[in-house]
Amino acid sequence: MSNHSHTACPGQDNPAAYSSYDSVRAVEWREDRVRLLDQRRLPQHTEYLSCRDAAAVAQAISTMAVRGAPAIGIAAAYGVVLAAQQRYAFSSATWRTDIEADIAALACSRPTAVNLFWALARMQAHLADITGDPGPVLLAEARRIHDEDIAANRRMGELGAALIEAGSGVLTHCNTGSLATGGYGTALGVIRAAWAAGKVNNVYADETRPWLQGARLTAWELVQDGIPVTLIADGAAAWLMRQGEVRWVIVGADRIAANGDTANKIGTYGLALAARHHGLKFMVVAPASTFDTKLRSGADIPIETRTPQEVLTLAGQPVAAAGASAWNPVFDVTPAELIDALVTERGVVLAPDARKIAALMGV
Ligand code: MRU
Repeated sequence: MSNHSHTACPGQDNPAAYSSYDSVRAVEWREDRVRLLDQRRLPQHTEYLSCRDAAAVAQAISTMAVRGAPAIGIAAAYGVVLAAQQRYAFSSATWRTDIEADIAALACSRPTAVNLFWALARMQAHLADITGDPGPVLLAEARRIHDEDIAANRRMGELGAALIEAGSGVLTHCNTGSLATGGYGTALGVIRAAWAAGKVNNVYADETRPWLQGARLTAWELVQDGIPVTLIADGAAAWLMRQGEVRWVIVGADRIAANGDTANKIGTYGLALAARHHGLKFMVVAPASTFDTKLRSGADIPIETRTPQEVLTLAGQPVAAAGASAWNPVFDVTPAELIDALVTERGVVLAPDARKIAALMGV
């Protein structure tokens, strides 16, 4: 599926993006293919994958070449465009049923981020009404999903930054930036906006074992955009809080249940507990596409477990005693009562609960 290429500057196709500490784009549509910045190779290598069919996009999602809840949804939407173009070229009579296998493959690529299923449902909603070539209609919808995500991130950036007091230290987890979204980022978008407003004096990032999204991706993005970042080992977070260095913990989300319980990268729950213990504020930043109000609580959210090899190795090298086994749940659920602020493009919910979320989502 891959055509690797090297680019000196990842944001060179997006000169406008430089204006607000946002120069990176992980997912791009290119005429007849989806171009993905291969996040497995960062930060050492800036390489792109060219996905020319839905199977390649599904594989890129499941192997984490592209990751982060909104970015997964956007990539899958473009995957549906590729599928439609190819199925229609093969048969203008049966493309609608032929495409179902492609959509099923995309839906199986990862289980926890609801943005994937949300984006596929938006694409599927068009299928029945299309007459003629489905490509243009579906491409327009995929582009809308992508553009709306960036706009939502900008709005959340403003709303979230407004909550942050001047002179704050902030701690983030995993990667929630341009790499994880259509662009700009959710939690990292708030940090970008707060940094631009001069409110943040220190950005701390957990390295985020086992996949090191913090060390490899968040640190890379912030360095690209000229925002100083201090990495910490995951185990140092509570001690950092104890030193009084952090006022807000700011994270993203993969799925938020109707009562506000939030699934996010493994380790998020522990940060929320530690933040509450130290009297610090805990902010979750996520677009409406991350809410799954069909689920009553976090107990219903499917949690992905990945291969033990991710824990037993580091950069492909074994680090554990031979013969040890490992457990690798890659998300956890933070109960709503530990969340001080839920920031969405529709507004901010303080101390989220089922009633406030129903009002926000109009359900
Ligand atoms: O396993 P990943 O890297 O896809 O997990 C990503 C996260 O947990 C992010 O915090 C979440 O998707 C929000 S991204 C804006």
